[in-house]
Amino acid sequence: MLSRRHVLMFLATAPALAGLGACAPAGLPDPVAAWRTPGAGETDPRRHALAHAILAPNPHNKQPWLIDLPGADEIVLTPDLTRMLPVTDPPNRQIVIGCGAFLELLDLAARENGHRAEISLWPEGEPQPVLDTRPIAHIRLVKDAGVAKDPLYRHITARRTNREPFDVTRLPAAADLDAVVAAARRGGLTAEKLVESDGVAKLRDLVWRGWTREMATPAALKESVDVMRIGAREIATHRDGISMDGPMIEALKALGMLSREAMLDPNSQANKQGAAIWKPLAETAPAFFWMRGADNSRATQIAVGRAYARANLEATARGLAMHPWSMALQEYPEIADLYAEQQAMLGGTAAAPVQMLARIGYGRDVKPAPRRGLSEHLKA
Ligand SMILES: Cc1cc2nc3c(=O)[nH]c(=O)nc-3n(C[C@H](O)[C@H](O)[C@H](O)COP(=O)(O)O)c2cc1C
Repeated sequence: MLSRRHVLMFLATAPALAGLGACAPAGLPDPVAAWRTPGAGETDPRRHALAHAILAPNPHNKQPWLIDLPGADEIVLTPDLTRMLPVTDPPNRQIVIGCGAFLELLDLAARENGHRAEISLWPEGEPQPVLDTRPIAHIRLVKDAGVAKDPLYRHITARRTNREPFDVTRLPAAADLDAVVAAARRGGLTAEKLVESDGVAKLRDLVWRGWTREMATPAALKESVDVMRIGAREIATHRDGISMDGPMIEALKALGMLSREAMLDPNSQANKQGAAIWKPLAETAPAFFWMRGADNSRATQIAVGRAYARANLEATARGLAMHPWSMALQEYPEIADLYAEQQAMLGGTAAAPVQMLARIGYGRDVKPAPRRGLSEHLKA
C-alpha cells in the first residue's frame, strides 16, 4: 500500500523522473534511454561496462567513441574521426580528455561487476599532432573477486554538466570543494580551486570574454551551432550535441525566430538572447576548479579526463554542480591572446598547460544530455 511517505518520496523525485522520461516525438528513439539502468540485462561484462562508459562527459557531446569487441574479453576503443572538433580543438586534446572520462566510467562499472579492467593506452603509439585511426586503448576485462568497488559508481547516472546559474548566496562548503579537488589529484595531476575572491572575479570576466570571442569568430561559432539540437525532434533524431528544448524553444522555432542561420549571425536577436542567458552563468560562478598534468602528452590528456570524471562524480555525490568553461583553453589562432592570459593566470605553461576549467557551485537540477546508445558505437 502506498503510504504518505511513499507519495512524498515520489513527489520529491518526480522532476528527475520527468527529465529521464522526456518522451521523444512519435517514431523516434528516446534520447535519454541510455541513462536508465545502464547495462541492465547484459550478460557480456564488456557491454555492461560500455553502457556506463558512454555516459561520460565529452566535448560538445560528440560521443566520438568507436568500439570493437574482439575475442571473449577484449575491448578496443578508437576515435570516431567523423566526430572531431577541428576548429575549436585542432589537436583533438579535448576529444582525448572525453575519451579519458569514458575509460574512467568503464573502469568503475567493471569493478562494480566484479571485473578488473586492464587498460593499455595507445597500444600502437600516441598519435600526434592529431588523432588517427590508431586505437586509444586496448582493454581486457578480467574476472577478479578481489577487485575493490568504488563508491563513485553510484553517481554515474546522476552526474550532469550543469548550464544553470549557480546560487551566488551559497558558497560551496569547503570540505565538499576540497573533496572534489582531491578526487582529481591522481596520477601526478594538479587540481586547484578558487572561491569567491578577486581571482574569481577575474576568472568570471575572462571566461565571459572567451565566450564573446567564440561568438565573434565565424568558424568557431559555426562549429558550436552545428551541434545545437533545436527542439525535441532534432534532439531525438541526433541524440548528441547540445540540446535546446522546452516550450519556449519550440515556440521560437515555429515562429522562425530560432534557426541555425540566425545563430550564425552574431548580431541576431537569437544570439543576443543567448548572450543574456550565458552571461549570468559566468557572473554567478561562486568558485572555479582547474586541472593540469606534468606535460601535454596524450597519456596526460587521458589521465585528466579520468580525473575530471571522478571530480564531477564526487561533486554530484556532494550536491555540487559543475560546468566546464573551455573557450579560452582552446587552441585556435583567434583566441590565442585569451588562451595565454588564462594559462598565465592559472599557472599553466606551454609544456604543461591547464587542461580543464570548470565553474562549480549549487544549481537547479538539469536533465541528462542525450546519448546515441551503445549499438551506435559498435563497429560492424
Ligand atoms: C574536455 C571537455 C570540455 C568541455 N567544455 C565545455 C564548455 O566549454 N562548455 C560547456 O557548456 N560544456 C563543456 N563540456 C561539457 C560537455 O558539453 C558535456 O559533457 C556534454 O554535453 C555531455 O553532457 P553531460 O556531461 O551532462 O553528460 C566539456 C566537456 C569536456 C570533457
